[in-house]
Amino acid sequence: MRLTAGSVALALLVAAPFAAAQLGPNYKCDPATCKLPACYCASTQPPVANPPQFLMLTYDDSIQAAVWPQAQALLNRKNPNGCPVKATWYTQVLYSDPYLVSQWYAQGNEVADHSVTHAPIFAGTYAEVEGMRKWANEYAGIPLGKIKGFRFPYLNYTTDAIAMLAKMGFEYESSMASGTGDMVWPYTLDYGTVNDCLGTAPACGKELNAKGLWEVPMYSTTGPNGIAQLMDPYNLPTLDAPQSPEQVTANYRTTFDAHYAASRVPFGVYLHPTWIGKSVPVGTAANPTATQDGTPKAAAVAAFLDYAMSKPDTWMVTASQMVEYMKNPVPASQLAAQPYMSCTPNPAPPNTICNGLAGDAAAGNAAPETCNLVSGSFRSCYGCPAEAPTLENPSPPTTSTRKRVPTTCDSLWWDPVAGTCLCTADSCKYTDTARPVNLDPASLNAAAANGTTPAGGAANNGTTTPAPGDKQAANSAASVTVTNAMAAAAVGVLAAGFAAW
Ligand SMILES: *[C@@H]1O[C@H](CO)[C@@H](O)[C@H](O)[C@H]1NC(C)=O
Ligand SMILES: *[C@@H]1O[C@H](CO)[C@@H](O)[C@H](O)[C@H]1NC(C)=O
Ligand SMILES: *[C@@H]1O[C@H](CO)[C@@H](O)[C@H](O)[C@H]1NC(C)=O
Ligand SMILES: [Zn+2]
Repeated sequence: MRLTAGSVALALLVAAPFAAAQLGPNYKCDPATCKLPACYCASTQPPVANPPQFLMLTYDDSIQAAVWPQAQALLNRKNPNGCPVKATWYTQVLYSDPYLVSQWYAQGNEVADHSVTHAPIFAGTYAEVEGMRKWANEYAGIPLGKIKGFRFPYLNYTTDAIAMLAKMGFEYESSMASGTGDMVWPYTLDYGTVNDCLGTAPACGKELNAKGLWEVPMYSTTGPNGIAQLMDPYNLPTLDAPQSPEQVTANYRTTFDAHYAASRVPFGVYLHPTWIGKSVPVGTAANPTATQDGTPKAAAVAAFLDYAMSKPDTWMVTASQMVEYMKNPVPASQLAAQPYMSCTPNPAPPNTICNGLAGDAAAGNAAPETCNLVSGSFRSCYGCPAEAPTLENPSPPTTSTRKRVPTTCDSLWWDPVAGTCLCTADSCKYTDTARPVNLDPASLNAAAANGTTPAGGAANNGTTTPAPGDKQAANSAASVTVTNAMAAAAVGVLAAGFAAW
C-alpha cells in the first residue's frame, strides 16, 4: 500500500426541492423545554437576530502527504477578525500520516473521527469509531476531548450508531444532508432528526436516543438543472464530464447568496482533497496509471471562497466552533469577542518540540520518527508502532522512548522526548476529561450503568427521550419522491483500480 490516492465517496445527489413547512414527519420539539446549551430544536430561523454567516469547509478521509498541499492551499485566507480560517478534517486511520494529523491540529484546525478503515458498506461500528480515537490520541497526540465529531463513511448511518455516538460522548455528528425545506441550523437530536426525511432513510421520524448530540447538517447546494449536490460538486454530473469550473463557482455562489440574503443558515463546502490536486489518480484496469489535473477544480472552490469571504460577517469555522456558537449564539457584531474564535492559543504554543508546528528538526529539536511498516511509511512524534495499525489493533505497542500525551497536557505544549508539559500559564492548562479509550464495546454499557459521565461534550447516559408525538405525520411530504443522500451514497466508491477508502 502506498500513501497516494485518497478516498472517494461519489459526489452525492440529495433531495430536490419540496414544499413542506413542517420539519420532518413526527418532528415535535418544544423550545420551551428543549433549551440551550444542552438542547436545541431544529429551525430554519437563526438563533438570534443578525447572526454571522458561517461557512464550514470540511475534508474527508486520510490526512496524507499526497493531499496535504491542496488541503492547505484553500486555508490561505482570513476571517473578519484577521485570524486564519479553520476547517474540519473527518479523518480515517488507514493511510493517514499521524505527523500530518498532529500538524493539522496544531494549526488550530479540527480533527474529527471518520473510522479506522472506512470499509464499505458500513463503517459506523464501535470498533471503527473507537479505534480512530485510540490511534489519533496515541500516534497523533490529539487529546481525546478534542475529537468531538463523527462523520459516517459514505454518510451511511443507522439509528443505533447515532445512539452509540451519543453514549460514547461525541458532541456532534455530521452526516445528514440538508436541502430545500430542511435547511436548518445545527440542532440537537433529542427529538429526532429533520434531515434525510425523504426516500428510504431510516432515521427521520424515529427515536434516536441521542440526547444532547448535535447534528451539524451537511448543507447542499443547487447545481445544474436545480439538482441538489453535496460533496465534490466539481465532479458532477459525471467525473468524465464534470461541470466547468465557472459553473461550479457560480452554483456555490447562487446558493450562498440565498443563505446570506435570507436567514443565514450555515453553508458548507465538502471536499475529498484527493480530487483537487495536480495529479489525481483516476486509473482504470486498462490504464492503471492515468491521472487527471484537479487544479481547475481547486481553483473553482477557491474562487467561491474568495467571493464568500468578501461578504461582511462571513466566517469560516470548524464544526466544533459552529457548535460552540449554537450553545451561546450572539449577533455577528459579537462573534469576534468569543473565546472559541481567537486566533491562536494564548500564550502561543512552543514550536521547538515535535508538536506538529514547523521548525522542529532544523532547530535540532525532536523531529517525528519515521515508521517503515509493511503498509508503507508514516511519521509520528510519539514513536513508531512495531506493526501496522489494523481495525483489531489500531494502535499497536511501540518500542520508542517517546512519551505519549497525557490527559494533563494539550499536545500543543507536550514535549514527547522529555515527557514534560511546557505549559506554564493558566490559560494553556488542559485536563482531558473525555471518556478513556476502551476497545471493548461492552465497556460503553458498563460505563453508562455505573453512571459515568462520558466526556467530550454532552453528558448523555443513554436515557430514552419521550417518543415524539405522531399526530403531525399527516403533514409529511410523503408523496415526494427523490433520491436522498444515503441512497445516493450507496453508490459509494467509484472506478476500478482507484483505491477506495
Ligand atoms: C462499574 O462498576 C463496577 C463495580 O463497581 C466495576 O467493577 C466496573 O469496572 C465498572 N465499570 C466501568 C466501565 O467503570
Ligand atoms: C440520566 O439522565 C437523566 C436525565 O438527564 C437523569 O434523570 C438520570 O438520573 C440519569 N441516570 C443516571 C444513571 O445517571
Ligand atoms: C449501510 O449499511 C448497512 C449495514 O448497516 C447496509 O445494509 C446498507 O446497504 C448500507 N447503505 C448504504 C446506502 O450504503
Ligand atoms: Zn469518507
